[in-house]
Amino acid sequence: MKMDQGTFDVGCCFIGLILLFAPPSVSSASVYRKSACLGQSIPLPCNGAARSGAELFFMQHGEQKTFQKVAEMTSGRVSAEPEFEGRLKSDPMEQPGSYGLILGPLVYNDGGSYECRPKNSTAARVETIVDILFPFQVSMAMGEPAILPCVGNIKKQAHHGDLCVQWTRDGMVICKYCNNTLTCSPEFKNRASLSTDHILQGNMSLTIKPTRSSDRGYYQCSYNEEKGNPAIVSLTVAAHPPLRLTVKEGDSLPVPLYTTEPLNVMFSTAAGSDEVLVASVKKGSVLFRSRHLGRVLSNTVVLQSVTLLDSGVYSITENDTGEAIGTVFVQVTGSCVSAGTVAGITLLVAVVAAAISIFISHMCLKKSFQWAEVGQ
Ligand SMILES: *[C@@H]1O[C@H](CO)[C@@H](O)[C@H](O)[C@H]1NC(C)=O
Ligand SMILES: *[C@@H]1O[C@H](CO)[C@@H](O)[C@H](O)[C@H]1NC(C)=O
Ligand SMILES: *[C@@H]1O[C@H](CO)[C@@H](O)[C@H](O)[C@H]1NC(C)=O
Ligand SMILES: *[C@@H]1O[C@H](CO)[C@@H](O)[C@H](O)[C@H]1NC(C)=O
Repeated sequence: MKMDQGTFDVGCCFIGLILLFAPPSVSSASVYRKSACLGQSIPLPCNGAARSGAELFFMQHGEQKTFQKVAEMTSGRVSAEPEFEGRLKSDPMEQPGSYGLILGPLVYNDGGSYECRPKNSTAARVETIVDILFPFQVSMAMGEPAILPCVGNIKKQAHHGDLCVQWTRDGMVICKYCNNTLTCSPEFKNRASLSTDHILQGNMSLTIKPTRSSDRGYYQCSYNEEKGNPAIVSLTVAAHPPLRLTVKEGDSLPVPLYTTEPLNVMFSTAAGSDEVLVASVKKGSVLFRSRHLGRVLSNTVVLQSVTLLDSGVYSITENDTGEAIGTVFVQVTGSCVSAGTVAGITLLVAVVAAAISIFISHMCLKKSFQWAEVGQ
């Protein structure tokens, strides 16, 4: 059985479309099998023309009864039963029928068989068997290693030589461990690994180190044509939580690099304002692009001798995507007498001066009153 990708690849979750049974004549049904993730949408193909209309029937997994009608289409308009209301829409498509329906977002009990029966009796029915997958979630901060779990009941007598483990991402093969050799696609070469010691015990987990933003997706593992467990792993790669740093004028400012490379360190005076490139880091060496002096020290760019003008937002971004890996909000304070202290002293002097002048004028006023009394 071959996977027919591309035709119904919905972009996020890998949706394999397998033609199980093609009809010998026009009146019998074609049967397809698909798997899709919870929350995604899937196309349900029909035959014939949208304008002639069709009816959609459904039989839930585990039911042995007959199909129940769940929706009706008339000239592209869909009216559905309450369980499917608002989740079915008409979809003009190229292959394999000339149009169909889109069901989504999928809920867990949408798993079952769907049959599209065109109202025009000369067009063939199309049956689609839908399996709903619930992805195992792995969430990492960019640059951190991710372990994508996968286990299988590998035969105790198996040797590395007769074992072939395959990992796919969104339906494309990314790594293969066959005949004792791991080969990965260029994107994962030198970053993906399998623990060969664990494989013969049934643990085929894939380690990606360091992670990049482009590693996001849905991963599946199989061995000798059998599916591993969990059936699908969803990897999320996010930015690190922002940091806040206060440094004294003249001191060094450490900017963390989070192990991902190549990357850039950008600076702006405030979040959202224009950014300037401060430094580019590649293979552990740093190239300073603006006025800063510094060095790379154990995954940190150290900016030396900062000034008050260095206060602002530093974002660490992936060079290839420009996506933020992390953000550091930096405040540089004056080394001896800060602006705040100067303002404080000025205020104090002003208050004292005001108090003295009020006191003097009060005394003068008192004196003039006394004079006035004497004069009367
Ligand atoms: C019914 O379907 C057949 C075959 O798909 C097509 O040739 C014919 O034009 C259709 N008739 C109508 C009324 O849509
Ligand atoms: C596996 O590798 C060995 C040598 O490393 C080679 O002799 C053998 O033919 C290979 N088997 C397959 C199926 O490729
Ligand atoms: C499977 O192997 C990975 C390393 O590849 C390891 O981190 C993980 O703990 C193992 N899982 C189990 C269930 O043994
Ligand atoms: C950084 O990205 C640009 C394009 O986005 C590319 O031309 C350049 O080669 C990259 N630099 C490194 C060090 O990968």
